[in-house]
Amino acid sequence: MFNPNDVNIDLLSARAHNLRWATLPKDVIPLTAADPDFPMAPPIKEALFKYIDGGYLSYGPAEGLESFREAVAKDYERKNQVTYASELILPVDSAAFGIYLTCKAILQPKDEVIVFDPVDFLFKYSVEQVGAKAITFPTPQTKGLMDFSGLEALITPKTKLICLCNPLNPTGKVFTKSELSALAEIVAKYQDLMVLSDEIWSDIVFNPNKFNAFSSIDTVFERTITVTGYSKSYGLAGLRIGSILMPNKNIYDKIFAMSLHQSTVHGANVLGQIAAQAALNEAQPWLDGFVRHLQEMRDFAVTRLNAMPGVQCQAPQGCYVLFPEISETGFSASELQNQLMIKAKVAVVPGLPKWFGSGAEGHIRLSFATSWGILDEALGRIHKFLES
Ligand SMILES: Cc1ncc(COP(=O)(O)O)c(C=O)c1O
Repeated sequence: MFNPNDVNIDLLSARAHNLRWATLPKDVIPLTAADPDFPMAPPIKEALFKYIDGGYLSYGPAEGLESFREAVAKDYERKNQVTYASELILPVDSAAFGIYLTCKAILQPKDEVIVFDPVDFLFKYSVEQVGAKAITFPTPQTKGLMDFSGLEALITPKTKLICLCNPLNPTGKVFTKSELSALAEIVAKYQDLMVLSDEIWSDIVFNPNKFNAFSSIDTVFERTITVTGYSKSYGLAGLRIGSILMPNKNIYDKIFAMSLHQSTVHGANVLGQIAAQAALNEAQPWLDGFVRHLQEMRDFAVTRLNAMPGVQCQAPQGCYVLFPEISETGFSASELQNQLMIKAKVAVVPGLPKWFGSGAEGHIRLSFATSWGILDEALGRIHKFLES
């Protein structure tokens, strides 16, 4: 597992979209969208085969398969010691849609939402799609603890939601329990202020860091809507499957009504639920191996990047993306992305406001969810270009 032979570039070149193999010339290595180059875990494949072998792909329940909701609740409890009632878990067609749907259900036009910066574009995008306003809280990449004291100053009577991305894509920050408690203390002071905790990266955490769920802080459990997904840990992005875990029936009813699942206008497809439940119930040993492989790739890539002229790279605590500071190369993020694409034949994501907020300038993002051989080749090409 996780050997060069396990990466099938021919199939990826036909199937992997969203800035990756299928969208680029054949000689370009894409370290772009965070989507693994490895195929799904064998138990997931078997579960899908078995379900399809039954021959029926009928409508599933609007609320999701009971077995799926139970698998999500059990997995969350095992990993976080937090109990979500399975009837308050809703499968949705991706974590991305989970973020959007939460915004749609919770926010009114002109409400304000605190969004970290840099962070994945999906938060600001979703907030703005429902007519609310994203207020950015700078979360630069530092080695120390995050200071939330400045966040409170951003709260106004219009602030209804804080979007927490933990672990944080793209900096790889994994929030400690004391950092989350500091945030919880602020949240608890303001009636009606909710937190959307995106935990899609929570399985991808490197030793000695430890993931802590915001929902595990008792004082804010009722204020937390947890969104997660199965694209990152299990390579199921094409199935578009995620979950929203809700603290009470009131919030569940609002989100369920807004989901349009009951009318069949939207819904999480049954194959996605079958795959994700197999992942949670049966693919944990595979996931452990994947994280061990990723930790090796991270250490290898960080050392290589820091040996390149003008590049400084901190080791991410979680997520399989690197977010090196590249200003000293003399290029802006988009100039470097362009040059690497043309001259080094490596695709990276530039730290542009449209992807991660304005706090990302001076950085590029590289995914390392690939084999050692591919990563070695890509980093070698980048190094050679920067030295030239
Ligand atoms: C923080 C975060 N949330 C959500 C997503 C989207 O995941 P999905 O494929 O389930 O929509 C991503 C993907 O990069 C992400 O980094």
